[in-house]
Amino acid sequence: MTQRVHSIAVIGGDGIGPEVTGAALEVVRAAGVSFTTKEFDLGAARYLRDGFVLDDATLERLRGFDAIMLGAIGPAIGDTRIPGGTLERGLLLRMRFGLDLYINFRPFHAVQGSLAEGCDFAIVRENTEGPYAGEGGVLRYGTPHEVATQGSVNTRFGVERCVRYAFDHAARAARPKVTLVHKTNVLIYAGDLWSRVVAEVKKEYPQVEVDYNHVDAACIYLVEDPQRYSVIVTDNLFGDILSDLAGAVTGGIGFAASGNINPTKSGASLFEPVHGAAHDIVGTNRANPLAAVSSAVLMLEHLGENEAAARIAAAVRDFQGDASILGTSGITAQLLERL
Ligand code: IPM
Ligand code: MN
Repeated sequence: MTQRVHSIAVIGGDGIGPEVTGAALEVVRAAGVSFTTKEFDLGAARYLRDGFVLDDATLERLRGFDAIMLGAIGPAIGDTRIPGGTLERGLLLRMRFGLDLYINFRPFHAVQGSLAEGCDFAIVRENTEGPYAGEGGVLRYGTPHEVATQGSVNTRFGVERCVRYAFDHAARAARPKVTLVHKTNVLIYAGDLWSRVVAEVKKEYPQVEVDYNHVDAACIYLVEDPQRYSVIVTDNLFGDILSDLAGAVTGGIGFAASGNINPTKSGASLFEPVHGAAHDIVGTNRANPLAAVSSAVLMLEHLGENEAAARIAAAVRDFQGDASILGTSGITAQLLERL
């Protein structure tokens, strides 16, 4: 059997981004996966150097890779030279929308000693619609009569493909259960659409249990009763907020992985840790690469490298010691040894 050689676009980005993607790729290589890499210089540092964020040609080049691995994007805290939204909307969201990465998949495996110890669940976040779509605008800017609107876009098509992904995943999960999280008591139009789609898709998955929580209640449950969850499905903004909370109760955002996935493969899927660029610890060997490594596991599953993915996931699960003492190199060395 000839082994496939995967082409991976690497956007190390800013701060500790290049350190954690470097460690993750080293682990993937050690697991026996063959791949080539092409680096893309994108992010805050690039923007500050020459004003470039992302253009159509670069987006089209990214589309053609088997996967994209991203470290972190963003300036140092307190650096105000980049207007808010420039990189978020211009780079991250542009890739999510342009490559149709309509699922943001965030699995959480609670580490020992965390609030949610013993819990395993995932958030399936819709990744191309909701308030992130950018509907809205401003009138009478800067006057006392200023009007700002920011709509939430929910299409039948977009909601259904996200809900289907959640059910597919739940059907294969240890506990086949999908919990819709929304705010149907207030956001009655969008909430009704999400609820109806969940009820309809559920008919095709008799073995999958369905539950519903309002988003405010879900914040309490994630802290006080996280074991009730297996797969949460929710819209873009609720999913963004809940996944930070889920990261906090399962061991910290330093462990949280995410896959921005286009299941149809019409564009390269993008894998990134949920954490930020942490400029304050660059070059000090203090960056925790576990979230980037776990994101690489999601990438390998997407690429069909299930055996290597399972071995790396087991090494991460069996990781022992204090991440803050071992540091980037110590953690990476332990993972390499466990492979
Ligand atoms: C995330 C981030 C992004 C989001 C920002 C940086 C645009 O918070 O991936 O969760 O809101 O989706
Ligand atoms: Mn977020």
